Amino acid sequence: PFTYLNVMDKDGLSRLVVEHGITRIIHNASILSAVGEQNPQRGIELNTTAIENVLEVARMYNLRVLAPSSIAAFGPSSPKENTPDITIMRPTTVYGITKVYGELLGDYYHQKYGVDYRSLRYPGIISAAMPGGGTTDWAIHIFYEALKHGKYECFLSEYTALPMMHLRDCINATVSLLNADNADLKQRTYNVSAFSLRPNDLAAAIRTHIPSFEVTYKPDFRQQIADSWPSSIDDLNARRDWGWQEEYDMASLTEDMLREVEEYLKSH
Ligand code: SER
Repeated sequence: PFTYLNVMDKDGLSRLVVEHGITRIIHNASILSAVGEQNPQRGIELNTTAIENVLEVARMYNLRVLAPSSIAAFGPSSPKENTPDITIMRPTTVYGITKVYGELLGDYYHQKYGVDYRSLRYPGIISAAMPGGGTTDWAIHIFYEALKHGKYECFLSEYTALPMMHLRDCINATVSLLNADNADLKQRTYNVSAFSLRPNDLAAAIRTHIPSFEVTYKPDFRQQIADSWPSSIDDLNARRDWGWQEEYDMASLTEDMLREVEEYLKSH
């Protein structure tokens, strides 16, 4: 069954849970980093109210909740390389601040009410589906522009490294954590990443398939957001506790994306 739901509508969420006998919620709805900085009030409202509603409904009906967090939960005073799960978290974007709020509120509901809350700090997720307003969107746009125009103007500088993963790895990580035994979970929120990616490296990987591909760099306001985030994160706890393991590296992701985006362009 498929149905629409406004995540701001707690009563509507309750009704759906009861009517469909729902036992688990994966809560993804969020205003991402770049759009959040353009409309902070909207970002604050949606990103806090939605997780509050989900946790309240989970408390009332004893549900398991997976609500992803993000590398955006870290900030300029967090360690930049190999950022661990537990460290200084003072993000400077509305998106990051509300992600930390969601993580802490989830921990609170877990401790106080026993809500089975779980979370993953997603890196940039790469898939042929058009992304909605994040700082890591360049890693998707670049494939579309490579195939459509043979050139791309990147909104981050060429050496800005950010953690990333393929959508299929993201789905695998999400399902693995959702199905993990509680006894194996030593914490409620886990870092996950497959590799770190700089625009320069991805451009070179695409050039092995499209040798004439050209990239120019024109950093905009999103550069400052990227600079405040880790360039790589330490996800050893996820690997140890519930067996996180990626399938895609940069080369196989590049091949897969070129194929998928090409198919998409043909059919649209
Ligand atoms: N992809 C997200 C963003 O760029 C990070 O979680 O906002």
